[in-house]
Amino acid sequence: MNSILSKYRDILDNFEDLEAGGYRREHGTETGVLRLSGRAKPEEAPVQDLSSCSLEELAGLIRRCSACPLGSLRKNAVPGEGSSKPEVMLIGEAPGGQEDESGKTFVGAAGKYLDKWLDAVHLSRDRNVFIANVIKCRPPGNRDPEESEMKSCFPYLLAQIELLKPRAILCLGRFAGRKITGMETSLRNMREKVHSFKDIPVIVTYHPSAVLRNPELRRPVWDDLRRLSGLIGQG
Ligand code: URA
Repeated sequence: MNSILSKYRDILDNFEDLEAGGYRREHGTETGVLRLSGRAKPEEAPVQDLSSCSLEELAGLIRRCSACPLGSLRKNAVPGEGSSKPEVMLIGEAPGGQEDESGKTFVGAAGKYLDKWLDAVHLSRDRNVFIANVIKCRPPGNRDPEESEMKSCFPYLLAQIELLKPRAILCLGRFAGRKITGMETSLRNMREKVHSFKDIPVIVTYHPSAVLRNPELRRPVWDDLRRLSGLIGQG
């Protein structure tokens, strides 16, 4: 009986994730089919030793990266930006259209909304937050990032985290949550606890785009932000 109930809960969770995670798709503009350039294999990780790079050097490598086929499709890679001594590092999913145009993270509607969340807990990109994504180049048609893309991009994120040493990490959405917690589970399950990555406390919350689409998620996000605030002593 318990296993039937847990399967049922899994199905509901996955449905919720699908609803909350499907927000990135744009309809009708692009096919979402990846054009393989033939100049790089998808799972090739960056060859350099990233551990001795500065933030600027990492950004330069990311802008020139061709470790996966997205490198040949982007207008601009989006390394991430913000304080170099952040209280909190935010990790989103992947650049969208406006980010690809500008080379900056979260500049669209979701970004403006995200700034309001930060403001509510006395955080800001200019002062005490650094924002990056799991993958640094836009997937065509804003489709979900592929496992191989996340794998080849991960060394950059890892190097950024190790360099920035934030006091806490806030993952936005299920892709960031899964990558950082290592849990292959629903966002709802990941939200239930404070995780740890390289001894840094991690909170997983909904992606701002998902919340813009579904205002019922505002309350849980607020709870998560308060928890984050408490972790860094701003609550
Ligand atoms: N959504 C993300 O996850 N990251 C961005 O940079 C923009 C939108």
